[in-house]
Amino acid sequence: MSQVYVSQHPLALHKLTVLRDKTTDHRSFRELVRELALLLCYEATQDLHVSPATVTTPMGNAQGYKTEDTIGLVPILRAGLGLVDGVMELLPSVQVWHIGLYRDEKTLRPVEYYNRLPTEPTVNVCLVLDPMLATGGSAVATVDILKRWGVQRIKFLGLIAAPEGIERLTTAHPDVPIHVAAVDDRLNDIGFIVPGLGDAGDRQFGT
Ligand code: PRP
Repeated sequence: MSQVYVSQHPLALHKLTVLRDKTTDHRSFRELVRELALLLCYEATQDLHVSPATVTTPMGNAQGYKTEDTIGLVPILRAGLGLVDGVMELLPSVQVWHIGLYRDEKTLRPVEYYNRLPTEPTVNVCLVLDPMLATGGSAVATVDILKRWGVQRIKFLGLIAAPEGIERLTTAHPDVPIHVAAVDDRLNDIGFIVPGLGDAGDRQFGT
């Protein structure tokens, strides 16, 4: 579990609790997802590379830093879309590369339906965005795609993980850090995280 980072930030703890509440409406749910994404992004980007840079202030020159990495956000459709806006508030210059996957309801295996990545990688760091890490199948498939694309520095950023999903992702890709707001108890027999928050896609989009 050494590379699983569970936020202990009081604001994340509070917002996640409201998010889980079944009486939270779609509008509030989307806003909380955005805010949690921002908080988790702050924690997940602590090791970005910077280089020295000089800036001229109204009073003279100051020594500062500029970020060096070219970052790609990879939201897994649909539910990952809700995390994009919050992350982009901190990282306005990122590229966004959507990956479409849905989970087959019977097998729980991910089925790919959208991928428009260009032939050559255009970023050197990818943040995979998906609120729920359940069986881990979707996350593993997405990281597989990104590594084949040629990106080696990849992080997973989500809201709630099941132990099963963490085990699967860390086994398949031990180099991929996992940043979440909570690790829950287990998966139920239809692959939902318990206690979780229900279906993150349906709750964001009112379906
Ligand atoms: C949910 C969720 C993840 C996936 C997690 O998506 O948003 O993408 O399931 O499950 P896994 O870890 O077992 O792969 P879903 O298939 O319901 O699609 P949606 O986002 O379009 O609702």
